Amino acid sequence: MNIATRPGSGKVTVPDVLSRKFHSPENSTEKNQKITCLTAYDYPTARLLDEAGVDILLVGDSLGMAVLGYESTIPVTLDEILHHLRAVRRGTRRVLLVADMPFGSFHVSVEESIRNAVRLVKEGGAEAVKVEGGERRVELISRLVEAEIPVMGHVGLTPQSVNAMGGFHVQGKTEEASRQIERDARAVEAAGAFSVVLESMPREVAARITEKLRIPTIGIGAGPDCDGQVLVFHDLVGLTTGHVPKFVRRYANLSGEIARAVSEYCDDVRAGRYPADAESYHSPQEVHEASPARERP
Ligand code: KIV
Repeated sequence: MNIATRPGSGKVTVPDVLSRKFHSPENSTEKNQKITCLTAYDYPTARLLDEAGVDILLVGDSLGMAVLGYESTIPVTLDEILHHLRAVRRGTRRVLLVADMPFGSFHVSVEESIRNAVRLVKEGGAEAVKVEGGERRVELISRLVEAEIPVMGHVGLTPQSVNAMGGFHVQGKTEEASRQIERDARAVEAAGAFSVVLESMPREVAARITEKLRIPTIGIGAGPDCDGQVLVFHDLVGLTTGHVPKFVRRYANLSGEIARAVSEYCDDVRAGRYPADAESYHSPQEVHEASPARERP
């Protein structure tokens, strides 16, 4: 299908995302379509995902684990996000492009955080930034919004808090914990965020928050009732090494496919089956005849 005629072929903007609030009764059916979001870290993947019709691409700090081989998202730097963000920017023209603010880039002062977010927008081409944390981030989010930088919030399991939380655990399992996540989500909305990621929580908690907020919720491990869903691209296509969370649905097994292709290539090279004559360049007849290749013993 031609890109101009494919559903979802128009440029996705922050107001578009806001208008896709699933539970908003005034929205038309078409606008009620759930929001699709995936991570991307490189040019070819960004091109494929943009052309496939995904609404939002996130250059997430999951970059650290998915691509850079870190144990967590903690070591990811602003410059690493910027480097990958520029590649993704070059591969996209339709999606809304969101960049994660990595650990340490918004923890020192509001002024420094704004400077860092401005770099993601100006140098990396991000159209919005994502900030982990709820009530604690109210001042930062409202200052970013004041500076015309749209913000996606992120509450529930916030992987940058791994050291404080002592691991990656499902959040909001007690009444009090679920109320805290709700307060966090409401605080993020009140501060001016245009959407909020709800990560790893009981679906009932995510459903209640989704019902109460005016901004769209984008779930990951938060059940089917959110206004949209996000997954790490490498999880979706089976490229993740190591633990894969329960909520991930694998739509492909690219690890297996790559292993098969590479081992076939090695076998062919070793057996002299690759390259074949059809995959070789040839000298023009007269050059070949003037200096024929020495015959092999
Ligand atoms: O870093 C990331 O990829 C994320 C998403 C999984 C929400 O934060």
